[in-house]
Amino acid sequence: MNRAPRAPWHLARATIDGMQRSAGEPHNFYAVPELAAHYDADNAGRPDLPFYLRLAGRIAARRVVDIGSGTGLLCRSLAARGHEVIGVEPQLTMLDIARRRPGASEVAWVHGTAGDLPAGWADLAVMTGHVAQYFLDDEAWRLVLTQSRRSLRPGAHLAFEIRNASLDEWRTWASDEPGATSAGTVRADVHRAGDLVTHTDHWVQHDREWTTRETLRFPSWEDVTRGLATTGFVVEESWGDWTGEPITPRSPEWIILARAAGAGDG
Ligand SMILES: C[S@@+](CC[C@H](N)C(=O)[O-])C[C@H]1O[C@@H](n2cnc3c(N)ncnc32)[C@H](O)[C@@H]1O
Repeated sequence: MNRAPRAPWHLARATIDGMQRSAGEPHNFYAVPELAAHYDADNAGRPDLPFYLRLAGRIAARRVVDIGSGTGLLCRSLAARGHEVIGVEPQLTMLDIARRRPGASEVAWVHGTAGDLPAGWADLAVMTGHVAQYFLDDEAWRLVLTQSRRSLRPGAHLAFEIRNASLDEWRTWASDEPGATSAGTVRADVHRAGDLVTHTDHWVQHDREWTTRETLRFPSWEDVTRGLATTGFVVEESWGDWTGEPITPRSPEWIILARAAGAGDG
């Protein structure tokens, strides 16, 4: 909800529970074909994707799983660089777009969540596009970490990012006036309750309108790292932005590379 010329990609979020909503209630963005169709155009030039591509190369991850792979932006780039890739995504609308993109046949697509991944397969699991903020309490966070760990070989890695909760970035998302997207306009209402932020977005494309809603968690650093430790991960490296700077109190992101600890750790 920045006043950016296009909808910033952090707008493009919606919860999986939106799939069953009745008419008149807010939709899940990712389940609306007309909105999801413009996800890639509204997400052009993201700095996180080259960061994760470099990371996968640097740690020589042969097999990568992308949890919440969306339209497959990262999956297809990884596959083009020779990685074996599985993209897992709960929203069929997003998965259908991913499957139709050039290079999609080089990726194995799974309709589901982290619990649907094959066990002991990957050298690296990633959650990009702040997917890690969809897990709305400690229990859900521990569950996705446990499922991610199960998909990894012993000693393999998990990488993801979470917005620095202390910066309250969500305050910049609300807008009185609609902002431009690649296909129309969007205006957002934002509400916080504890560490949960719900944004309701009003989209217009030509003569059509939709309202979408989703809730994201802004966990504390302690919440994030306690979950990792209790599910058998060791934080190996961390960065505060996509240029690779260290984390400071003013860093926009907490980007974490964690390793699935083995018997010899700790
Ligand atoms: C902001 S998009 C990010 C997509 C992609 N990772 C990217 O970086 O472009 C968030 C994605 O997470 C998916 N998602 C939502 N809840 C999820 C869950 N519990 N498990 C896995 N994916 C989920 C959504 O359907 C959506 O495709």
